[in-house]
Amino acid sequence: MKTFRILAAGLMGLAFAGLAHAAGGSKHPHGPEEGWPFEGVTGQFDKASVQRGYQVYKQVCSSCHGMKLMSYRNLGEPGGPFYDPAYPNPNDNPFVKALAAENEVMNATPNDTGEYDYRPAMPADRFRAPFPNDAAARAANGGALPPDLSVMVKARHYGADYIFDLMTGYPDPTLFEDREVQENGETLYQKVLDVSKFEKLGDYRPEHTSYLVQPAGQYYNPYMAGDTTPNYEGDPRHAPPGGFLAMAPQLTDGRVEYTDGTEATAEQMAYDVAQFLAWASEPKLEARKRTGLATMAFLLILTTLLWFSYKQIWRKVEH
Ligand code: HEC
Repeated sequence: MKTFRILAAGLMGLAFAGLAHAAGGSKHPHGPEEGWPFEGVTGQFDKASVQRGYQVYKQVCSSCHGMKLMSYRNLGEPGGPFYDPAYPNPNDNPFVKALAAENEVMNATPNDTGEYDYRPAMPADRFRAPFPNDAAARAANGGALPPDLSVMVKARHYGADYIFDLMTGYPDPTLFEDREVQENGETLYQKVLDVSKFEKLGDYRPEHTSYLVQPAGQYYNPYMAGDTTPNYEGDPRHAPPGGFLAMAPQLTDGRVEYTDGTEATAEQMAYDVAQFLAWASEPKLEARKRTGLATMAFLLILTTLLWFSYKQIWRKVEH
């Protein structure tokens, strides 16, 4: 009887999990096929990738997203992508200085006429903010606030995997059709996606043409948290996973030209920028892992020593 009850409870649980899926939810992030080099007990960042990721952030993301916890000098600190042992103090590192100087920041103090001048940034400056304040940021982004990316990898489940999948998960723009609708005597244009053609959805893909209506200024992404049911014209129990966000797809092949000659495919840029953001979220990861390993090694030696001294001390005692 008891077994039966436990079984029944389990089945009920499963049924509710199924319902939860039908009512929305986003696609489970899987990240890049090859995984991340910084995973595992000894994993470390791929320096070249973090460097390229900074380039992607600078040339693409930084026009909307700030990283206010970061200073340019962090890029040249031990564990950072542009660390050079010849310059233990990153403020002296000419490369870091040059990277900083590519950005204009506002002086903290006014000039003689009471105005604030702009000047090239120095390593000690925080990353340049794309907007003077949140209101300006919202106004430029259709009311949505582009979140700060300093600790984004820690702020979202599946961290770097999520960033990678979100950036590469949008349906190709060619999959959308334009539709004319009449509303209160006005002609409106809608973007609709035939979900059955969106192959990346895998098992979630319906067999027959089923349209998802994209709200104006919003973009469908299967990894974004949300609920697509209200916008889905197909079977509501099988609405596609994911939701809508105010960020248009950003990474298209060749969007940046990598200075190290790597081919800038959308996937490569997503991989690099996600790894850069992972580093920014935890710049001391490598030091932490090194300390952890040394601590474990020390504890192992200590345990062995203690074991043998215990044996030695109690050698003659019957116990
Ligand atoms: C044109 C402006 C713009 C650019 C460029 C841009 N974003 Fe966004 N991003 C936004 C806006 C606006 C939002 C908020 C969307 C919302 O909440 O609906 C956002 C949200 C995000 C989110 C959070 C999604 C979530 O889970 O809430 C991440 C992560 C992100 N962007 C990463 C990036 C990365 C990485 C780049 C560069 C490759 C980038 N963005 C470039 C405007 C932009």
